[in-house]
Amino acid sequence: MAAYEYETHEYDVVVVGAGGAGLRATLGMAEQGLRTACVSKVFPTRSHTVAAQGGIAASLSNMGPDNWQWHMYDTVKGSDWLGDTDAMEYLAREAPKAVYELEHYGVPFSRTEEGKIYQRPFGGHTTEFGEGPPVQRTCAAADRTGHAILHTLYGQSLKNNAEFYIEYFAIDLVMSDDGVCQGVLCWKLDDGTMHLFSAKMVVLATGGYGRAYFSATSAHTCTGDGGGMVARQGLPLQDMEFVQFHPTGIYGAGCLITEGARGEGGYLTNSEGERFMERYAPTYKDLASRDVVSRCMTMEIREGRGVGEKGDHIHLHLNHLPPETLDLRLPGISESARIFAGVDLTKEPIPVLPTVHYNMGGIPTNYWGEVLNPTADNPDAISPGLMAVGEAGCASVHGANRLGSNSLIDLVVFGRAAAIRAAEIVDPKTPVPTPNQKSVDAAFDRFDGLRYAKGAIPTAELRLEMQQTMQADAAVFRTDKTLAEGEEKMKGVAAKQGDLKVTDNSLVWNSDLMETLELTNLMPNAVATITAAAARKESRGAHAHEDYPDRDDKNWRKHSLIRFEENDADLTFRPVHLDPLTKQDEGGIDLKKIAPKARVY
Ligand code: FUM
Repeated sequence: MAAYEYETHEYDVVVVGAGGAGLRATLGMAEQGLRTACVSKVFPTRSHTVAAQGGIAASLSNMGPDNWQWHMYDTVKGSDWLGDTDAMEYLAREAPKAVYELEHYGVPFSRTEEGKIYQRPFGGHTTEFGEGPPVQRTCAAADRTGHAILHTLYGQSLKNNAEFYIEYFAIDLVMSDDGVCQGVLCWKLDDGTMHLFSAKMVVLATGGYGRAYFSATSAHTCTGDGGGMVARQGLPLQDMEFVQFHPTGIYGAGCLITEGARGEGGYLTNSEGERFMERYAPTYKDLASRDVVSRCMTMEIREGRGVGEKGDHIHLHLNHLPPETLDLRLPGISESARIFAGVDLTKEPIPVLPTVHYNMGGIPTNYWGEVLNPTADNPDAISPGLMAVGEAGCASVHGANRLGSNSLIDLVVFGRAAAIRAAEIVDPKTPVPTPNQKSVDAAFDRFDGLRYAKGAIPTAELRLEMQQTMQADAAVFRTDKTLAEGEEKMKGVAAKQGDLKVTDNSLVWNSDLMETLELTNLMPNAVATITAAAARKESRGAHAHEDYPDRDDKNWRKHSLIRFEENDADLTFRPVHLDPLTKQDEGGIDLKKIAPKARVY
């Protein structure tokens, strides 16, 4: 058994991760008098939410008619009927409240002439249950909305006495023998000390796992740490086959060019100068939902109408817009286009390509953020002491495809919901549970095994093999052949974790060891993704299966669950929640409006 000294800390709640969801949960918990710690591997305002550009969806009706029912309908349709109806209703109903709270906390939103929060159009957001024109629903702080939200939430959390443990890496969850989460073991990166955080509730807000792929808009820190930790405890991951490609990553660099660019009037063209989206999505054109636009771009390239020397990308035009609009509404991407594509977007188009952007799947939760551990008798059974919010979680509001700007609203609505729920179930007067020493020892043993790993494969080499396999075989379009090959290859790649080589075994600022721990988190996320994708014999949302081009609600309107037993991925399913929270005669949505139908834009 590895012998490490460690400091202990006791809290009512420990939040792991300081992005938008983690900070909103931290703030809400602290506001309600719970002793709250937030542990983060990066400085909070450097979390990946800082990169969210275009905005946050809420039916404020500042720019024209809108209501939560239309927002809910768009979310249901965007999800390709895989989202949970109760969670989607909660999101759409609570969104305006959550945004006004952000405004009151001090988020510097852009303004209309009348001083209201400015809202722009985004893909898949419509009026009249998809029958009317696009709606301006996405509340924006220029094209730096995530940045604005993150700074405000961090300041407010400090004001409410939340305690921050910054540059602490969460190694593993600590669980009782009967499956109650009791805390998390962490490594302090700057001085090498070890820290055991015991808590009555642990909230995983660790973000997505975009870095399982070779080209992603996600930061290098997006390594699915929460998913890795729950997978090691035998808890499931849900709907992992649904990986979103954002239509406009900068060609070659992968950096995001916000969908807000098309919201402000930008459009895509092929090598013939044709605005091809008019052919595929005659009503909403460039503002169709992301999975649709990404597929259309890929088809144009495949059919020989890509731009550039190799014909392997697409042009995004903003050069027809007044420079004042670009300055006011899109200053951030003007800079990104200049730095990463060498393009002056007032004069020339930006070269773009669909790029991995978001994981619809994650740790299954209910709409209060409580982690689920479904059993044969109870598909909604709760895993006590554990919550997951933000991209790490799967509530599931995005189903098979997330609408742009529904991510930031997911972070704050469900971060806030987790805090409301925790205040109901966490009693500040009871003692913090004594952590299970066996579980603590197991976490140290794993850490130590990796620290002194003396195999033959450097971490960076195995990570690249994983990223290239995922990029090639779990792409925008998938086939039985690519998925079967990819699944087999990923099994082989995952098995090589036993042969990793870590050259630096110091404990202070050891990026070799940290990246190795991150790789062991990415790996179960990647394996779960390709395993669930290979099993799903239909096309739905972001899962575009060329051998099964249609959605099959009869057989496949269900959530996939992957659990790991050692390195074996075991697949089961749980039903989609079809019932809304509010009955129609009590003010809820008309269920006929959200009944499954063909998804056209
Ligand atoms: O395009 C964007 O600004 C990204 C927004 C989102 O993913 O929600």
